[in-house]
Amino acid sequence: MLLLAAPAFAQDEDSSILPEGEGRDETFALCTACHNSAIIRRTRLPRAQWDGLMDWMVEKHGMNPLDADLRSTIVDYLARHFGPAATPPRARNPFL
Ligand code: HEC
Repeated sequence: MLLLAAPAFAQDEDSSILPEGEGRDETFALCTACHNSAIIRRTRLPRAQWDGLMDWMVEKHGMNPLDADLRSTIVDYLARHFGPAATPPRARNPFL
């Protein structure tokens, strides 16, 4: 998939790389264990698809299932900041 074409990233991010808001720290802590945040930051999905992605991450990629509260905190955060209407990523910058 296209995202695999991304260059290797330094793994020295901290949560400030994600937009400020409720759920940021949880999202950063849980979602950058296996890949860095770029894969998230360049994605734009409606809430239902972010929610579905949580299952996909568990089933296909071995993420530990999230408990319901944490899951909704994270999915809300993702949908709010990385929904279809969010500012597009700097689309053609490969170093995003
Ligand atoms: C246990 C490891 C693991 C965890 C934890 C994890 N992911 Fe992933 N994620 C993956 C793998 C593996 C891929 C596929 C990577 C690839 O295609 O390069 C992936 C891919 C993705 C993609 C790209 C989907 C696509 O359509 O290509 C997104 C977006 C994503 N993850 C978001 C998240 C979010 C949000 C979280 C936190 C809830 C998360 N990931 C936590 C392993 C993980």
